[in-house]
Amino acid sequence: MANIFVNINSSTQNYPIIICNEDISDLKKKILSYATGKKFLVVISEKVNKLYGKALGFENCEKFILKDGEKEKNFHNYQKILNRAFKMQLSRNDALIAIGGGVVGDIAGFAASTYMRGIKFIQVPTTLLACVDSSVGGKTGIDTNFGKNLIGSFYQPKAVIINTNFLNTLDDRQFKTGLGEVVKYAFIEKSCKCEEELNLTNFISENFENILLKNPDSLKNLITICIKLKVSVVQKDEKEGNLRKILNFGHTYGHAIEKYTNYKKYTHGEAIVKGIIFAFNLAVKRNLIDINYKYFADDVIKKFNFKTIPDYPIEKMVKLMKMDKKADSDYITFILPVDYSIVEEFKFTEKDLLY
Ligand code: GLY
Repeated sequence: MANIFVNINSSTQNYPIIICNEDISDLKKKILSYATGKKFLVVISEKVNKLYGKALGFENCEKFILKDGEKEKNFHNYQKILNRAFKMQLSRNDALIAIGGGVVGDIAGFAASTYMRGIKFIQVPTTLLACVDSSVGGKTGIDTNFGKNLIGSFYQPKAVIINTNFLNTLDDRQFKTGLGEVVKYAFIEKSCKCEEELNLTNFISENFENILLKNPDSLKNLITICIKLKVSVVQKDEKEGNLRKILNFGHTYGHAIEKYTNYKKYTHGEAIVKGIIFAFNLAVKRNLIDINYKYFADDVIKKFNFKTIPDYPIEKMVKLMKMDKKADSDYITFILPVDYSIVEEFKFTEKDLLY
């Protein structure tokens, strides 16, 4: 078992991220040790409930089962979770427990942060993407017709409890979407300013076969490295004023791909990998990096055999990138590599990118 403690200024106390691979039936006790009030509501993904509901042992507890898919992360379901909490008369001392992927964590976290101005929240991420990214750092939210995650809050949980056994039932594509974010951490590692030298690119190169085979120890070590990097960033900049922006590496172009294909054709991780490749190409074009670093990055990315995404018309991509919530009116912001595992923020005009 690995414990990483998160110390964020806005939180009243440090909280742990626990990474374990014990039997799923032993998890309930651990989860409830952080739900110290009288009552709790479990928000759980439909798929996870089907596969692990019995083993988890929350059968006779108050449970809100959320259907799977990004479209469920909406205002209607948010309201339904709150109504359930009101019917149960949850008090501020009680807890909301999220068991599932990013959608469940985001919507339940937002409900927890707003119900009575905030009740205890415990995250149990069950996808690789949620383990390495969305469950860490306190971003919560729901989607609107105007865009994804446009309503939300920064709200830190009481604990994040990761059990790598949940990953065994992820299909290949779902698993690899998480690996897309893993690869991102490899290329931003030094900029994360983590005290420990973790060398994620080496770890990937030496362990990629075991990672793809879902070897429990390799997964535990991989998740631990990624979380240490993310925690290092969010402890220094919880609200994305500055350093946290580096976590958007690959996301400017990646989000445009997702929008262009209506969030249907590619997974988030696949789009982010394409965005990372775009960022490397742009960095070469702007003389920010040596071509050999780009070749090195290509080799690391190839280890996971991601789905290949074609180049879409740059004019269309630029238009979409300009509409991103992180863009300002005249410039498109990119996080680009400038040296091995070091990235910086750059702003380009539409013209810069087209010609
Ligand atoms: N997923 C990016 C962040 O948490 O800031």
